[in-house]
Amino acid sequence: MRGGPREAPDTQKKGCQEMNPDVKLSPFQAGDLDTLCRWRNHPEVSRFLSHRIKTLDQAAVWFQRMTGDPNNLLMGITVDGKLVGYGIVENVDLHSGKCEIGIVIGEPDFWGKGIGKTAVAALLEYCFGKLQLNRVLAVMARGNGRSVALFENSGFTHEGTLREATLINGEHTDLFLYSLLKREYLDAHA
Ligand SMILES: CC(C)(COP(=O)(O)OP(=O)(O)OC[C@H]1O[C@@H](n2cnc3c(N)ncnc32)[C@H](O)[C@@H]1OP(=O)(O)O)[C@@H](O)C(=O)NCCC(=O)NCCS
Repeated sequence: MRGGPREAPDTQKKGCQEMNPDVKLSPFQAGDLDTLCRWRNHPEVSRFLSHRIKTLDQAAVWFQRMTGDPNNLLMGITVDGKLVGYGIVENVDLHSGKCEIGIVIGEPDFWGKGIGKTAVAALLEYCFGKLQLNRVLAVMARGNGRSVALFENSGFTHEGTLREATLINGEHTDLFLYSLLKREYLDAHA
């Protein structure tokens, strides 16, 4: 661990990483929005997510924002062909060379198997390789230990905390800012 605010040890590792499931990113379709709503209505999946996407109408507005803006990218995450989640690249700023990424694995049965890490690696390849960005940001709520572990394992550094910047289950909750710079990414992949 890198000195960031990782809070809880892994007690539920299922040892499935060795099974090397076929994780792929593919375009997320409008027809998948009912699945997305099911995920976002799952209390464990949405526990640390502040942005409300509960109804199909809300999902459609979000989908339009993600797919109708060239500075955003929305991708589905499939495992052996099954859609299990999505990854986003948003607020791409080619001038400053930065963006933000996020991941949701909507099927909790698929957590802890390295799927998030594989999906983050694919998004980073897109950000640093194809877009040639300099900096990628990830933001997560305090308490989201899986997300903290995922981004620390993916090379990100905790660079700051926005105090009580989001509302989670009615509680004002800190947001952790994690970033990865291109030179750090390249060093790790040299
Ligand atoms: C966060 C999320 C994307 C992680 O995906 P994942 O496929 O489970 O990620 P990985 O398996 O690659 O890595 C998870 C890490 O968390 C660790 N972990 C598991 N349970 C944990 C816990 N309760 N506390 C802390 N770490 C935990 C795992 O051991 C693993 O780390 P390791 O590889 O060092 O062992 C997934 O849990 C999710 O979609 N959660 C709901 C939505 C969400 O909160 N998204 C993040 C928004 S910023």
